[in-house]
Amino acid sequence: MSAGRIKDIANIARLGHVEFRTTDLERARDFYVDLIGLHETERDHDRIYLRCTEDKQHHTFVLRRAQSAGVGHIGFVVADEDDLDRMKARFEELGLPVRWAGNEMLGQGRTLSVQDPLGFVIDYYATIQPVPWLVQQYHLHKGASPTRVDHVNVLTPDAQAGYDWYTGELGFGCAELTESDPPEQRIWASWLFRKSTVHDIAVMTGAGPAAHHIGLSLGDPLSIIRACDMLAGAGYANSIERGPGRHGISNALFVYVRDPDGNRFELYMGDYLTGNRGAEPIRWNLNNPVRQTLWGAPPPRRWFEESMAVETFDGSALQATRPPLMQAVPNYVPD
Ligand SMILES: [Fe+2]
Repeated sequence: MSAGRIKDIANIARLGHVEFRTTDLERARDFYVDLIGLHETERDHDRIYLRCTEDKQHHTFVLRRAQSAGVGHIGFVVADEDDLDRMKARFEELGLPVRWAGNEMLGQGRTLSVQDPLGFVIDYYATIQPVPWLVQQYHLHKGASPTRVDHVNVLTPDAQAGYDWYTGELGFGCAELTESDPPEQRIWASWLFRKSTVHDIAVMTGAGPAAHHIGLSLGDPLSIIRACDMLAGAGYANSIERGPGRHGISNALFVYVRDPDGNRFELYMGDYLTGNRGAEPIRWNLNNPVRQTLWGAPPPRRWFEESMAVETFDGSALQATRPPLMQAVPNYVPD
């Protein structure tokens, strides 16, 4: 008997965390904590658990010691423990690889791990250790002082299938999408949400499964300029990959940065309230450059060509369907 679609049987709350692989855990920690301004909650031998000022949970961004850069897994929070059991039954019904993950993540409860139809390893969990809220601990704010891990942006060869999976099976809303001209009129990218902003995840067309970036939300526009100044002062001027500028899609101010491993993140500020998952998305034509950049310089070639590798379901290797990851950024010579 059908368990019903996830949208009918479980309540996905929001993006929970993203795990970045790093070849130098302490260097990555210094970059994200001392320079960017994330907060270290806890650490074990292989992982450092970070959060932003608005986060009341143990971690929203995790650095993990690894042989190469890339993304370990993507985590979503669900409302209740029972959701996980119903989701497991549904994923099994769909024939997807699914298992209960081990308890290796500090602060995180029972975790259901699935390889979704796009090939991404997604962890779902309902329980995560509460930690002190830092919004009003102003004396602890430093760097760009990110307020939350806002979204993850991923690549797949069939973005229409990604849109169908997230809006159909999982019950995400779609704030905005990019599509090609009729008669094909295929979705090239979509911005998909469970929390009430523009997105928790964006699914774009590209060699995949691979990850393009994570978005760290900032509290005000000047924090983006301040972050650029601090990156330059610390010797990371060439790590500023694209922007600052303002997107057409999402209306957010942005700057894209490559960390010392070459992993990519976006400092993101000023998108808008959504909330109604049944509302019609804003539609952009693929040939309209304003969708990417309302103002600001066009993206460099590497922004389109380079992505972050993602792990296989058993975590033993990186998936092969990806363009090569760039070398560490400080030696990068702009074209
Ligand atoms: Fe983004």
